[in-house]
Amino acid sequence: MRITIFGTGYVGLVTGACLAQSGNHVVCVDIDADKIARLTRGEIPIFEPGLEQIVHDNVRSGRLRFTTDAAEAVAHGTLQFIAVGTPPDEDGSADLQYVLKVAETIGAHMDEYRLVITKSTVPVGTADKVKAQLAKAVAARGADVEFDVASNPEFLKEGAAVEDFMKPDRVVVGVDSDRAAEHLRALYAPFNRQHDRTIVMDIRSAELTKYAANIVLATKISLMNELSQVADRVDADIEQVRRAIGADHRIGYHFIYPGCGFGGSCFPKDVRALAQTAGQLGYETEIINAVERVNDRQKNVLFEKLQAHFGDLSGKTIAVWGLAFKPNTDDMREAPSCTLMESLWGAGATVRAFDPEAMNETRRIYGERDDLKLCENGEQAVEGADALVLVTEWHIFRTPDFTDIASRMKQAVLVDGRNIYKPSYVSQAGFTYYGIGRSAAS
Ligand code: UGA
Repeated sequence: MRITIFGTGYVGLVTGACLAQSGNHVVCVDIDADKIARLTRGEIPIFEPGLEQIVHDNVRSGRLRFTTDAAEAVAHGTLQFIAVGTPPDEDGSADLQYVLKVAETIGAHMDEYRLVITKSTVPVGTADKVKAQLAKAVAARGADVEFDVASNPEFLKEGAAVEDFMKPDRVVVGVDSDRAAEHLRALYAPFNRQHDRTIVMDIRSAELTKYAANIVLATKISLMNELSQVADRVDADIEQVRRAIGADHRIGYHFIYPGCGFGGSCFPKDVRALAQTAGQLGYETEIINAVERVNDRQKNVLFEKLQAHFGDLSGKTIAVWGLAFKPNTDDMREAPSCTLMESLWGAGATVRAFDPEAMNETRRIYGERDDLKLCENGEQAVEGADALVLVTEWHIFRTPDFTDIASRMKQAVLVDGRNIYKPSYVSQAGFTYYGIGRSAAS
C-alpha cells in the first residue's frame, strides 16, 4: 500500500519504518528541513533499539522516503497518518494546532480518495475536528474529493517500540465506514501472527481507549508507590508483598513495580489531559487526579531519603546512576532524575551523574554547571561521593562490584530507587541501604 506519515517524531518514524518493513511504500514528511536532511542521510534523531537498521534497510530498498514537500506527500499515500506532536497547553489539555494544520494541508492538496488517520494521542472528538477541517479545506478549493477519517492510536513503549509495532498485543482501529475499516485491516494483517489482533470500533471509543490504557497502567504504578510508602512506615517489605499479590492472576505481575515515580512523554501528559477533558465536560475526576498527585509526591522520595539520612545536604556529593526516565531510551521528559537533581542543587549538593544514553540530553537540558559533573561510567560517578542513588534500572547497573564501589566513595550509602538490589548483599559490602518501601527488607 502507499502510505504517508506526517511527523517524523518518535511515533511517526517508528510507524513509517515498520510499515515500510512489511512491504508498503512509505513517505514520511516533516516541516523540519534539517531533520529530514539528517534522516535522508541515515541519521536517526532518537535512540530506539532496532530502528536504525530498519530505516537504513528500507531507505536502501526505496520503500521509505523522507521529504518536506507536503503536496508530494499528499499525492503519494492513499492512507495519510497524522503523527505530529500534541504538546500540552498550559492547562494540561492537548494542543491540537499541529494536527489540524496537517488536516488542512491534506485537504488543500488531495485530488483523490484519502483515508486520514490520527496516530498522535489526541483528545476524544479530535477525529471529528479533523474531518471538519478536511471538509472545509476541500470545499475552499471548490473540489469534490471523497475521504474518510479514522483513529488508530499507538501503544508503543519507548525502548521497545519496534518490537511493539511488529508484534502488537492489539491494533485499535476507530472508524465510521466499512471502507476505512477494510483499508486498516489490510494494512495491519501482516502483524496479526496467530490470530486477528485488530479491534475495530467507533472512532470516539478508539480515542478513549488510548487514554484508558495509559491511565490504568499509571494507576497501577501510583497505587503500588502509595503502598510502598505505607510499607516503609509499617516496617514491611513491598517487594515481598509485590511478589505475592502479582501471583493473583486478576492482579498480575506487570506494572506493579514500586519506584521513584513514572515519567516520560506519555503517562504524565495523558493523565492530565483526560482529567482536563472530563473537567471541561463538568465531571471532576477523582482517581485520575490522585494518580498524578501521588506520582508528583513519589518523585521526591529519593531526595527525602537522602535528607532523612544526612540532614543537611549542602556540600555533599551525590552520585546518580541513570538519568533517562526509564532504561533503553535517552528520553528525560518528566524523569524522576530531574526532580532529584534539582532538589539536590536547591539544597547545595553536587551531583556526579552517569547514564548509558542520556548524557547528551542532560547536557542539552542543564548545560555546564559547577554542581553537575557528567561522568563517563558508573565507577567514575561514585568517586568521592557521599551517597549513590540508582534512579534508572539500566542493565549495566544491575550487578556492580559493590566492594569496589564502596572503596571509591567517601561514605557507602545507597538509595535504590527501583529496588533492584538485594539489601543483605549490598549491606555485606558495607553499604547503608535504602530502598523504596522496604525498610524491613532482608
Ligand atoms: C507508555 C505505555 O506503556 C505505552 O503502551 C504507550 O504507547 C506509551 O506510553 C504512549 O502513550 O505512547 P512509555 O511512556 O514508553 O510507554 O513507558 P513505560 O514503559 O510504560 O514506562 C512509563 C514509566 O512508568 C517509566 O517511568 C517507568 O519507570 C515507570 N514504571 C513502569 C514504574 O515505575 N513501575 C512499573 O511497574 C512500570
